[in-house]
Formats: sequence, structure tokens, C-alpha cells
Amino acid sequence: MEALITRENAGIPAIGIEQMSKTYIGKKRVRVEALQNVSLTVGRGEVFGFLGPNGAGKSTTIKCLVGLMRPTKGDATIMGEGISSLASRRNIGYLPENPSFYDYLSAEEYIRFVGSVFQMPAEQLVSKCEEVLKLLELWDARKRPIRSYSKGMVQRVGLAQVLIHDPDVYILDEPMSGLDPLGRALVKDIIGDLKKRGKTVFFSTHIIDDVEKVCDRVGIISGGVLKSVERVDRILEQGVTGYTITAQNGKGEIRTFTVERDDLSGNLATLTADGFTVSLIEPVRKNLERFFLDIVQESRKSE
Ligand SMILES: Nc1ncnc2c1ncn2[C@@H]1O[C@H](COP(=O)(O)OP(=O)(O)OP(=O)(O)O)[C@@H](O)[C@H]1O
Ligand SMILES: [Mg+2]
Repeated sequence: MEALITRENAGIPAIGIEQMSKTYIGKKRVRVEALQNVSLTVGRGEVFGFLGPNGAGKSTTIKCLVGLMRPTKGDATIMGEGISSLASRRNIGYLPENPSFYDYLSAEEYIRFVGSVFQMPAEQLVSKCEEVLKLLELWDARKRPIRSYSKGMVQRVGLAQVLIHDPDVYILDEPMSGLDPLGRALVKDIIGDLKKRGKTVFFSTHIIDDVEKVCDRVGIISGGVLKSVERVDRILEQGVTGYTITAQNGKGEIRTFTVERDDLSGNLATLTADGFTVSLIEPVRKNLERFFLDIVQESRKSE
């Protein structure tokens, strides 16, 4: 499937969530407000990180988006199609939180099965299957039953089945979970490649570093409420709290110290007056982790 943008669909977002709420009725009729009035738009070609602590509502949002459960209130669209429609599901690659498969099948059999469900032509299915199994480093193990795979290998099968039918929208629930550092780097590369090809990726994670490296924007959810949606580059840019200055004079004396953001120019003038030359100015940032923790801790106080 190609991510064709025509005049008719140009203004339609890849994912549009409108005032979505989900209430679970648990044992003894206990109500859990897992999502409360979440509204969010993800543009085509965007990589969006969905960050939140355990129990925040990430998987609930994702399960509603892929049609596995119905929201209690509100609605959403994928490429303009309502989430209750079959058309929306055809265009999604979905990685569940804890993928499990018919584990008596091999990776090759399973991936071919998924491709056939999406009605891929036989020839294309064979070549695409080889491509994704090689990409996810499952080629050597492709003929073994999935039940003999390690946790990280099962996660890789989950990613392979997401890629096989080349959908436009990728909805991934903790794609880096269970992977070693090499596997995580590979997933980041895959997400980067999807973005280059104009695809849209929406993924949940707790790993802030993953968001910082690959996402255009991040949404922070806590207690079922979407607390913040911001561009990652803006967070990093606004997060500059000060500067570390290194300077040297003719006698080889070195001064290294940190100043507040607003005190930079005054300190530079003093250094010059003292006969020092600045060799390095490094920004001190409030990183994405601090931004995330501040929002989550603030929201917990008000709960
Ligand atoms: N089937 C269910 N029945 C009752 N409550 C549920 C059900 N599924 C989830 N919940 C509750 O809904 C809330 C949100 O859960 P959800 O799985 O969406 O969180 P999450 O952000 O994905 O967390 P994690 O990071 O641990 O995966 C939690 O309080 C959870 O206990
Ligand atoms: Mg979850």
C-alpha cells in the first residue's frame, strides 16, 4: 500500500482522536477511568512518542485505535477512516504490548500467514517476507518454531509482522521492550526509515531516550489524561537553563564555571576584561526526562 496523498485526502490527519474516554468496569463493578477526554492529532509522516508511567492509559488508547476495544465515549480516525471500520485496520501495522503468536509456526510461516491475511500477492509476499526477516535478523532462525525463540526474538517477530504489508500507519505498543541495545538501535533505524518513506509512526514507551532520538513530537499521558503535547526539538531548546563556560588566559590558566541562562553576556564581558579567551560554551539543559518527570509528578500531586 502506498502513502498516496491526493488533493482529496491532503488535509486528513494520519490519526485523529476526538474526546476519547474509556471506562473499565472491573471486579465488584469497580470503575476505572482509564482514559478521559483525550484529543490528539498526528500528522502524516510524523513520528509521535506516547510517554507515560505504568497504568497511564497508553495501551488502552492504542487498543481503541486499532479496533480491539471500543471507547466508552468519543471517536478516532486512521487516515480519515473511523476506527470501527475495516478500512482503518487495513492501513495499520500494530505491535501489541506482549506479542504472542501461534508458536508452533516458524517465523517464516507466521509472517507469510499475516501477509496472506492482508491479501498480498504470492510473489510479493515471498520477497517481502525475506526482506523483513533479514532486516530483523531472524533469517537464520526462520524455520524454527517460534516457541524456541528468546523473548527478544519474539519481539522481533512482532515487528516483522508489522512491516510485512507495508501499511501507512504504524501503531506500536512499546516496540523497544525486551530488546538488547543492538535491537533497540535497529528499531530506531527502522522508525527513521519509515519516516523517510512518509509513513506515520505512533509508539508508546517509558524510555525517554528513545523519544528524544526518533520522535518529532511527544505526548505525555498520566492518570488517563493527556497532560502535554510538544515538539521534541522545542522541549530541548526551551530546556536550556544555563551555560558552562571554559576560558583560558595567556598564562595557561583555565577557568570553567556554570552560569544562569540570563547571566551569560555579563560573564563573557568580565572574562574578556580579565584577559581570558573563551574556548567553549556548552548549554546546560533541562532534558526530556526532567520535562516528563515534572509533568507526571505535578499531575500526581493534583490527583
Ligand atoms: N481490562 C481491564 N479491566 C480493568 N482495568 C483495566 C483493564 N485494562 C487496563 N485497565 C486499567 O486501566 C488503566 C490504564 O491501563 P493501560 O494498560 O492502558 O496503561 P499503560 O499506560 O499501558 O501502562 P503500562 O506502561 O504498564 O503498560 C490502569 O489503571 C489499568 O489497571
Ligand atoms: Mg501498556
